[in-house]
Amino acid sequence: HIADKINVAIDGPAGAGKSTVARMVAQKLSYIYVDTGAMYRAVTWYMIRKDIMPEDHDNVLQTVRNMVIELIPGEEVQKVIINGEDVTPHIRSLQVSGMVSQYAKIESIRTRLSQLQREMALGKGVVMDGRDIGTTVLPDAEVKIFMTASVKERALRRYKELKDAEQVTLEQLENDIAQRDLLDQSREISPLRRADDSILLDTTSMDIVQVVETIVSHCRSYARGE
Ligand code: DC
Repeated sequence: HIADKINVAIDGPAGAGKSTVARMVAQKLSYIYVDTGAMYRAVTWYMIRKDIMPEDHDNVLQTVRNMVIELIPGEEVQKVIINGEDVTPHIRSLQVSGMVSQYAKIESIRTRLSQLQREMALGKGVVMDGRDIGTTVLPDAEVKIFMTASVKERALRRYKELKDAEQVTLEQLENDIAQRDLLDQSREISPLRRADDSILLDTTSMDIVQVVETIVSHCRSYARGE
């Protein structure tokens, strides 16, 4: 057990298994898990449904300003509520996955979501996963992890997750992931980048339990002042 609560930032590219791992780490430490990707996905779905294109900056700005976004932590899935509507069932679709990078690069969206994320972490005891948590959202997080795995391995993991629900080939997923990595790394605002003071964790040949144990032990050594 860790006496004083800390914040844990887990960043990395798409499909590295961050959300599964972050949720399990939070459970072990009795912390709150915050999935920031779900927030970007929820906003994306909402914009698509309102027919607001990413190029339409004025409209995007107005909409994101007036949006009420709530995150409800849960054992299995964390719910995202926008303007009172539970959008969680829609945010993992291929349509949203294909568009989310276009919206996630918009400054007004990033500013609003980062602000919400910082508020959630004020009381400490949060495990937050995303792309820019260790670099931008919580630069003072006590433990920062940068999780990666090869593109092939990440595509395979996604494939196993998706294959019952959607018609998609492994090759398609590999392409999607490589494309999303490129967009996430090359955008101007808060690109996906490893924080200098983060711990690099290549999980290509690790299983989930090993990854979780590794992160939890980093949290414990932090607490012991190591
Ligand atoms: O982790 P995910 O695949 O659910 O994230 C969806 C998208 O949201 C991803 O393409 C990048 C973006 N994202 C981001 O820009 N910043 C974050 N902190 C989290 C996600």
